[in-house]
Amino acid sequence: AKILVLHGPNLNLLGTREPGIYGATTLADINRSLEMQAQAAGHQLSHLQSNAEYQLIDRIHAARDEGVAFIIINPAAFTHTSVALRDALLGVDIPFYEVHLSNVHAREAFRHHSYFSDVARGVICGFGSQGYNFALQAVVDGLA
Ligand code: DQA
Repeated sequence: AKILVLHGPNLNLLGTREPGIYGATTLADINRSLEMQAQAAGHQLSHLQSNAEYQLIDRIHAARDEGVAFIIINPAAFTHTSVALRDALLGVDIPFYEVHLSNVHAREAFRHHSYFSDVARGVICGFGSQGYNFALQAVVDGLA
């Protein structure tokens, strides 16, 4: 099946961005690891990072036409702001997991609210880059 991984704003800086919070793993490392994990399980994985809300929205719309079965998304700061991204995911009706590297609940109050969590199939936070692998494993187990 087709699986899409979406990374929101500033995640292109992973590896050098606040490493005490987000770790030393780069986005390229994360994507490579997910690609290998998906391939080993016989699934097709594509990914996009964007700092622009509309590009993430357009990618979600295209996912429906491509027959994407599942989305894993770290909306990054859009988690706390974007009704538009939430509506895009609901609009295409593709199930998704929400992932955050950091434990957002242990951080500033403005990070405690998510526009995604109540409509996500599941939420993972606080496990660093491994959170993406956990989410993908759950998708693979569910699709198998
Ligand atoms: C994040 C948490 C968000 O609050 C923050 O804006 C990010 C990254 C995370 O992965 O921990 O950019 O989504």
